[in-house]
Amino acid sequence: MIKTGTMPGSPSSERKGGTAGSILILEKDPALRQAFSRHLTRWGEHPLLADSAEDALSLIRGEPEVFLAFLNLASISTPGLDLMEAIQDANPEVSVILTTDYVDPSTALPFIERGAFDYVKKPFLFEEIEILIRRVREHQELRSQATTLQILQETKKVERQNLIDFMIGLANLIDAKSPYTREHSDRVARTTKVFTRFLGLPRKDYEDISFGAKLHDIGKVGIPDSILNSTGKLSKEERQIMNDHPQAGARILKPILVMKDIIPMVLYHHENWDGTGYPERLREEEIPFGARIVKITDYYDAITSHRPYRSPLSLEEASQVLRSERGRILDPRLTDAFLDMLHQGGLENPNVSGVLPAVR
Ligand SMILES: [Fe+2]
Ligand SMILES: [Fe+2]
Repeated sequence: MIKTGTMPGSPSSERKGGTAGSILILEKDPALRQAFSRHLTRWGEHPLLADSAEDALSLIRGEPEVFLAFLNLASISTPGLDLMEAIQDANPEVSVILTTDYVDPSTALPFIERGAFDYVKKPFLFEEIEILIRRVREHQELRSQATTLQILQETKKVERQNLIDFMIGLANLIDAKSPYTREHSDRVARTTKVFTRFLGLPRKDYEDISFGAKLHDIGKVGIPDSILNSTGKLSKEERQIMNDHPQAGARILKPILVMKDIIPMVLYHHENWDGTGYPERLREEEIPFGARIVKITDYYDAITSHRPYRSPLSLEEASQVLRSERGRILDPRLTDAFLDMLHQGGLENPNVSGVLPAVR
């Protein structure tokens, strides 16, 4: 090992120019080595000098801050590729630049293929070296930003997945609160997924609408069980509490940015086509498209599942009821499409895997 360019007793933080990290020079020619050292020190860099592969490796292993290595392959007896791999193993952050005595660029090609940053042919100007060092720093800065961005994106994905899981848990909790709504949100979500695919909607839309269907009654979480499970007629106040659930659901989801496309299905799934629904008495196409779909699938599930006051309707009976509500509470064209799907057996063997949106 020859020496480093740092003056004894001068901590790296006091280096001229204040640049971080060290640059390794593997060079057999003492005059060139010293020229490297002089220039690098003048530019505020911290050179580490080696005249053999062993020295180069032990410097890399001993100095975690090395970010760049200039390797002159004519200076070593071991195969150059082996040395480069050993350096990359010891510190994957190190960029390698070859200084080559050969004019033929194919000599450097296998190194570039294995990840060397660049090569420079002798004789070179030190201005070239300065530019190369700048390029390496920029490249490493970009690489580190890309890594940070990737980590952030991964974290965002996990957070989004956690929120989705939490909301699904909440919807399941509401289903479980009442014996009459057990698995209601799951069935509505599955029927919605089959229907939206039958309609040929783009993936993002059918995932959002199906997820909205899963969460459509989430606002019922605050409704007392005595009202939720009541089999008798609700008082005016109780009816008001019950009918507030679309708005309560929207209030739950509103602060969560990733849920913004889900809110229309939650807030407007009790609006009627003829303007007699709630909470805003919207009519016809004022009602968001996704909410008109969930209105049908929610309604279909209500009439085809057990209720304390009646048994579930058969497919034929349910179709008849849907037809009678076509254009009254239900969007007429969507109802026609839903009936088509029913009669084509769309819900008999629904090939639907999951109801959840893909994590984007
Ligand atoms: Fe509802
Ligand atoms: Fe519902």
